[in-house]
Amino acid sequence: MHYFVRRPWDLPQHLHTEKNVFDDRGRHRRDFLKAVYGGMGGIALGSLLSGCEGPSLDELQVAGASEVNASLFPATRNADFEYGRDETDRREAAQFTNFYEFSGSKSVYKYIDSFQPLPWSVEVTGLCAKPQKFDLDDLLKLTDLEERAYRHRCVETWAMTVPWTGYPLRSLLEKVEPNPKAKFVRFETFNRPQEATRMRSSSFPWPYNEGLTIAEAMNELAFLTFGIYGEPLLKQHGAPVRLVLPWKYGFKSIKSIVKIELTDEQPATFWNTVNPHEYKFEANVDPAVPHPRWSQEREWMLGTKERFDTQPYNGYGDWVAKLYS
Ligand code: MTE
Repeated sequence: MHYFVRRPWDLPQHLHTEKNVFDDRGRHRRDFLKAVYGGMGGIALGSLLSGCEGPSLDELQVAGASEVNASLFPATRNADFEYGRDETDRREAAQFTNFYEFSGSKSVYKYIDSFQPLPWSVEVTGLCAKPQKFDLDDLLKLTDLEERAYRHRCVETWAMTVPWTGYPLRSLLEKVEPNPKAKFVRFETFNRPQEATRMRSSSFPWPYNEGLTIAEAMNELAFLTFGIYGEPLLKQHGAPVRLVLPWKYGFKSIKSIVKIELTDEQPATFWNTVNPHEYKFEANVDPAVPHPRWSQEREWMLGTKERFDTQPYNGYGDWVAKLYS
């Protein structure tokens, strides 16, 4: 099958957004702009006021949580998790993202204005005793939020170290009481071509979907995520709720989830459907298994471009290696 859109394996690895796109003004200005123009509507005015060349990080973000829940951020850091290297600058992380519903470039923030992450709900369904639809507020208050310092490794060889806010996916799954027949969990992103340009123009098999075995989904590391850097998720990071799976290549960490389904069969997943030769269902980080068109032995950090040897399971073997023995 031929696609006329850029795919992740087409991206040059040196791709990097200009550093001066953002400035570092404080939150007070975002609050001011929100008050006057209501969030993203204030971007142009903000740039004029500051005289900077582009919107600041704070002006770019529309929170993925309601005002009511803003008080839940930042959450307490869980000391069990450490990066083992420097934290990625938050602007570097925010200006270099993958969200193919909006753009095939890394500058997703330029194309995401129309996305409306509120109101939001997530349906949890399938092989379980208590299927339910959870509003975002209910999800946020399901259990205590915590912050985790995780390493993130993209299949394209870039990496970042960022603090995510959320709780183990297991906490949500337990609420619906999975049936013993449930062997897999399927995740689905929104299907809103009216808000996401690329869903209208590309021939990808939307909506984006992903899957895990039930054992992977129940593992302590699988993190249902609502925030980043102590604040609600930015739109481009997958507001208002996404998955973070630090031992797997980043494409498994599905953004802006609307549906979670317990199944007895391995679900089809987005990139595996597009190119099964290059993107596997399991997709654990593994330096010994090259991508068909590049090595996975090394990785480079967003921002600093510092390079490191890639670790099996991205260094999280103590938590997850037992799942694959
Ligand atoms: N989820 C959706 N719905 N759409 C996407 O395009 N890209 C994936 C993943 N989740 C993607 C997605 C890829 S390839 C990566 S590396 C991570 O999100 C990137 O997360 P970040 O952009 O917040 O760094």
